[in-house]
Amino acid sequence: MLVILSNFLYNGVMEKFCIVTYGCQMNVHESEKLSGILLKMGLTETLKPTEADVIVFNTCCIRESAENKAKGNIGALKGYKKKNPNVIIAVGGCMPQQKGEAEKLIAKFPFIDIIFGTQNLFLFEKFLEERIKGKKHIIELEYNSPLPPENIEFNRDGKDNNAYVNITYGCNNFCTYCIVPYVRGRERSRKESDIINECKQILKEGRFKSITLLGQNVNSYGNDLNDGSNFSKLLKNVASLDGDFVVKFMTSHPKDLSDELIETIATTPKISHDIHLPCQSGSTKILEAMNRRYTREHYLEIVKKIRAKIKDANISTDLIVGFPGETEEDFNQTISLIKEVKFSQIFAFMYSKRKGTIAEKMDNQVPLLVKRKRVNEVLNLQKQILKEYKGD
Ligand code: 5AD
Ligand code: SF4
Repeated sequence: MLVILSNFLYNGVMEKFCIVTYGCQMNVHESEKLSGILLKMGLTETLKPTEADVIVFNTCCIRESAENKAKGNIGALKGYKKKNPNVIIAVGGCMPQQKGEAEKLIAKFPFIDIIFGTQNLFLFEKFLEERIKGKKHIIELEYNSPLPPENIEFNRDGKDNNAYVNITYGCNNFCTYCIVPYVRGRERSRKESDIINECKQILKEGRFKSITLLGQNVNSYGNDLNDGSNFSKLLKNVASLDGDFVVKFMTSHPKDLSDELIETIATTPKISHDIHLPCQSGSTKILEAMNRRYTREHYLEIVKKIRAKIKDANISTDLIVGFPGETEEDFNQTISLIKEVKFSQIFAFMYSKRKGTIAEKMDNQVPLLVKRKRVNEVLNLQKQILKEYKGD
């Protein structure tokens, strides 16, 4: 099989690939994996889709706007594919993992050749082979896959001299607004020894100044391993590796941020003091409806503890405005939380209904105009806070 494929490549039919990535760091890192697979097959990378023989869209579906962006760009390739029918167009990542979405994508864009998901992208070479051998509309989605194999080489982008390392895949939290647990499956932790080996390899390369440990909720790392592993120990062990580098991590769920972890960050050299701690809302009523499993007071308490132990901590956050049932009073609670914490950075989003989530069915959806007004208010307030902070 491999021989046929390499002959195909050798004959110059497929020379270049282009990966278009949407969404979070997890997706950015998974594109590095895809890129590694395609390079190993002998293709070279181009940044222009209309120069490529294989175009891969690595998609996101966290909000409707992310899906629309990807769909717009896939649709724009219709003419290119018509002129170049041998070009292979693949769509992967979170978007097609939604129930029924792959079929909808094929119906809307019949020129898509391959659809794959978040849990089987390491099989991309096989999907490509099948397509080249004539199979049409390959749809390969996996919902209960164990961890991906360890032996896949990444083509690390190295932007900002940073290397990403997955520590967990999936999420068990089921925040009521969020599609992630449905499209990325249950939380699976990698073995600590595998993570450490990957970090050693990265440091051996010599070109990275930071390693960012990635998970939907890094604080629950190890819960499924039952071997005594936890995030605090993992961080310490990564930081103890030889070399001049900083260990970063994201994302921390406030409900699982332990005192042990704060102590570890405070006392271990090489661990970054940038803590991304999504609050999502400042209203306990809304936090409960979101199934975040902490209150406003608990969140503020954690911030206080962090600041007491880590004087130069940079705390950043994500928040959602216009969650169903969010009143002016609830929103004002978010505004007052922002004023109290003084985040170093805020990623503010308008709530976006996601099919299949619990919040989709909730009453009291907030009108778009109100969401827009609230998100602008948050962004303006944050600008003001940063201005005062910098003293200009
Ligand atoms: N609507 C708006 N924002 C969302 N997020 C997750 N799901 C939604 C949604 N349905 C935001 C959260 C999360 C960030 C990655 O995206 O703030 O922390
Ligand atoms: Fe989504 Fe909540 Fe899991 Fe984060 S912790 S990925 S917001 S379900």
